[in-house]
Amino acid sequence: MGFLDNLIANSLGGSSFFNAPKKLYKFEKIKQLTHETIKKNPNIKLIDMGVGEPDKMADELICDVLNNECRKPENRYYADNGIEEFQEAVCRYLNNVYGIENLTISNVMHGIGSKSILAMIPICFINPGDICIMPSPAYPTLGTYTKLLGGEIYNIPLCKENNFYMDLNSIPNDILKRAKMIYVNYPNNPTGQVATYEFYKDIVDFAKKNNILVVSD
Ligand SMILES: Cc1ncc(COP(=O)(O)O)c(C=O)c1O
Repeated sequence: MGFLDNLIANSLGGSSFFNAPKKLYKFEKIKQLTHETIKKNPNIKLIDMGVGEPDKMADELICDVLNNECRKPENRYYADNGIEEFQEAVCRYLNNVYGIENLTISNVMHGIGSKSILAMIPICFINPGDICIMPSPAYPTLGTYTKLLGGEIYNIPLCKENNFYMDLNSIPNDILKRAKMIYVNYPNNPTGQVATYEFYKDIVDFAKKNNILVVSD
């Protein structure tokens, strides 16, 4: 690659980055396999367990609104943290649906999707050596950026035996001491499990007791 060789960050492998064996991003691998399978078996009915992509066409109504709105001058310029109407709507939604009171727009940070937010959260909290507790399997972004920042991942299996919930009691004390964040994702991808009120209560109790931040996706 020439001049870029010595410029690549150490966290990505530094000068050996271009010589490292090429790894295919796991969701790209799933996508390629899905396409190959459909090509070979056009009539097969597949449940796609890959990344959730907007693969269906948007509703005509949405296309019309977008078409009109993009012509308005007030919709130009940056809106770094979303417009106020959006932030107020988020506060109302969280209050109406989840009963979270006293939120103000300063509590709302908007992103272009949860992937980019999951990538940014570790930047705010992870120092080298800190641990992020992740279920396995899981949507990987929070863990990927934790590692990039010198942090570590502690995986807890999600399996049928534990009803696809993390066994919080299985986490050793030395891990708990270094843990900064725990990632929960319900309804869960890829197991499809949903969370109960008790589940969230346990997670909150666990987080308060151990001084760990809960990232709920
Ligand atoms: C569990 C989970 N979290 C986050 C994302 C990313 O979603 P977004 O499109 O909002 O970035 C996905 C996408 O498949 C996902 O499955």
